[in-house]
This record gives sequence, C-alpha cells and structure tokens, in this order.
Amino acid sequence: MSASSQLNVSPGGALRGTIRVPGDKSISHRALMLGSIAEGTTCVHGFLEGQDALATMSAFRSMGVHIEGPNAGEVRIEGVGKHGLRIPAKPIDLGNSGTAMRLMAGLLAGQNFQCILTGDESLNSRPMARVCQPLTQMGARLETGSGGRPPLLIRPVLDELTGINYEMPMASAQVKSSLLLAGLYASGRTCVSEPACTRDHTERMLRAFGYEVTIEDSRVCLAGGGTLLGNDVDVPGDFSSAAFFLVGASIAKGSDLIIECVGVNPTRTGALEILRLMGADISVVNEREMGAEPVADLRVRHSELRGINVPRDLVALAIDEFPILFIAAACARGRTVVSGAHELRVKESDRIDAMAQGLTSLGLQAHPTRDGLIVEGGPISGGIINSRGDHRIAMAFSMSGLLASEEIVVNDCNNIHTSFPGFVQTARRAGLRVAQTHG
Ligand code: S3P
Repeated sequence: MSASSQLNVSPGGALRGTIRVPGDKSISHRALMLGSIAEGTTCVHGFLEGQDALATMSAFRSMGVHIEGPNAGEVRIEGVGKHGLRIPAKPIDLGNSGTAMRLMAGLLAGQNFQCILTGDESLNSRPMARVCQPLTQMGARLETGSGGRPPLLIRPVLDELTGINYEMPMASAQVKSSLLLAGLYASGRTCVSEPACTRDHTERMLRAFGYEVTIEDSRVCLAGGGTLLGNDVDVPGDFSSAAFFLVGASIAKGSDLIIECVGVNPTRTGALEILRLMGADISVVNEREMGAEPVADLRVRHSELRGINVPRDLVALAIDEFPILFIAAACARGRTVVSGAHELRVKESDRIDAMAQGLTSLGLQAHPTRDGLIVEGGPISGGIINSRGDHRIAMAFSMSGLLASEEIVVNDCNNIHTSFPGFVQTARRAGLRVAQTHG
C-alpha cells in the first residue's frame, strides 16, 4: 500500500458466500522463531505474508538463518540450532510488531552477541519494561530508550541466564512467551504465572518441536538447556482476522457467511463467546486438529444483537477483537460495557480512545473509562475515521459501513497489511462495498 491509503465504504450490503482469511499472525511469528533456533528443517504452510511476520523473517535472515519463501504461504527454514544465530550487521527493524519485539527480546537475551531492536513510530512508543524487567532478573543485559520504550539494546549475556519464577502483573502472552524463550537459554527452570489465561501458542509449538513444557500449580514451566527439533507447522486462518467478518455478517441483514479453516484455540476465541452472549448466530462446524492447533469452519448469519456487560474473564481471550466488538456494540440494542481491558490502551494505538473518538464521529455515544468503554447502540451516520495507523481500528470501522446511512471514509490504512493482506479484496468478495484509494 502507498503512504496514505484510505478506505471508502458505501453504506449497506450483506456478507455472503464462503471465504478464507490469511494465516494466524501469532503462530507465523512463532514458527519463524522456533524454526530458526531448531536443529534441522522446518516447513511452514499457510504462513501469513503480512508485514509483521515478514519483519520477523528479515530479522532472522539478518542473523544468518537461511529461509526460503514465502511462496504462496510456504516457508522453509534451515534451523541453525539454539546457539547458531550470528550478530546482525545493523539494528533489527521490526516495523509495527510488538509480538516480534517482545518475543525476540527474550530469545536474544541469552545470546553471546549484541544487537538493537527498533520499530516504527507506533512500536517505538510501546512499553517494553514489561519484558525487560523480568529478563533483567534472569541476568539479561537490556537497555531501553526513554520511558522504557524501544529501541532495545541487548548486550551479550555475561555468563548464562538463570531461570526465574515470575508472576506476571498483567495478562500478556507476549511477556509469558518472551520469558519462556529466554528460559530455553537459562540454567534451571523458568516458570510464569498469569493473572488471566492468555494465548498458549508458544507452549503448544514448543511441545510440537519436542521441548517439554509443563503446567505446575497453574504456572507454565520449562527447563533450560534442551534442544528444539525442526518440525512442520500448519498455520490456521487467524481468528482475529475472521472476527471482522463474524461481526460484519452478524450486523448486516441478509448475511450468511462461511469462513473456512479458522484457528479456534480456546485461548483465542473469547470474542465468539462474547458475540454469542450478544445474540449472534455463529456455528462452529467441521472441527479438527491442524498440527498443534484446533481449527474449524465458522458459519455466521445475521441476527439482532443486544448490549451486554462483557464478562471480565473473557477480556484476555478476546483482547485483539475489541475494536470490532465495539462496532458490534454500536449495532446492538442497548448498552455494552467493557471493563478490565486496560491493555487496550497500549496496543498498536490506544484502542479505547481511538474507538471512542471514531464512534462519536459516527454519531454514537461512546464513553471511555480508565480500563474500558461504554457504548450505546444506535444509528450510524457516515463520517471520516482516523484509524491512527492501527490495522484493527481501520478494519473494524470499515465493517460499520454495512449499517451506516452515509459513506464512511477510513484514513491511514496502510497497516492493514501488517495482519491482513488482501483484506479489501476478501471483504469486497463477501459483499462489503469498500474501495481503497491511495493518496
Ligand atoms: C500476541 C499477544 C497479545 C496480542 C498481540 C499478539 C502474541 O498481546 O494483543 O496482538 O502473539 O503473543 P499481549 O500479550 O501484550 O496481550
């Protein structure tokens, strides 16, 4: 996409037919990371060819890993083993990806070379102390920029990392994964406990690569010093990308859409439960295993949604889906209240603020709180939305066009490509009246 692409969404339409969404972003990152430090070859099928995962791919290439592809979702990684990475010639630019930076901070903390991790404006304003602080406790030598933000300078480890027992203050799969990856290089055991269950792709993939990960008193634990064995990874469709269509089809009269081969790992599908509580008609069919992860086809039909108080125990399981869930709330009858979602303030944008402002500019009532948002369902006018360069804010507001009375223009949409290349084409094929223009 060019420097300033925008989406123009004409009002109305319904979502129908059968679609697929691109591969899971979290799993694509992890496949590159584990494949690179494994012994032997890893073949990845269904890899997400979006900017975030491609940034991780370049990062490992710059550390001497031979990676072929991506070629229609196929990637072949010649693993160099845990100690085979080489010093990169220049700072590693991870673009927009918080997952890449936080997980790689852990993976690189135990190496015997120095490197710098940096990113785009959004990533360089995101908090990194959440990983740097526990990694430092393990013996890592990390320095951040001002205010605990990137760039990260990772100095060579002096002796060896030491495993720790860490109680995470926030529910974060990125922090958990970062510490587990550092734990691979640490003496003794590394155990992480979380205040609420978060996505477990790292644990599943480590086991698939032959590494023992145990659950002890609700903590995720592993011992350092083991070896990862290259493995094939089948990447399911990204539930987070499917979620835009689950909501779009739920809100638009006449919709009946099937989304094939979507990852339905229960640590990711909180939005499915939230939408069902709101009255959505979604069936999960053809459930099967795809490597280490469960997948299914999702069928969604239009239904009248109602506002709810979102149960707090579902928040971490739906953390990336709140932008589109707030659109569902705007289209529902009555009030929806989300609380306990402070993490939304430190995503690619402050998603509480970005959604409140966008909904207000479409004529809705949306009241931000410290850790959530209260949305009153109501009619949606047309308007201009500033997506703040956040891919999920942009895609969420494009779906609101299905019920809007006038055109919706979404600005600053370049980053849709970080997670959902081909979004506009897929959405148009399903029935969204969207066009993309480049300024
Ligand atoms: C991710 C974890 C989540 C999520 C992000 C991807 C991951 O972040 O928001 O998009 O792949 O581990 P947190 O762990 O910070 O909540």
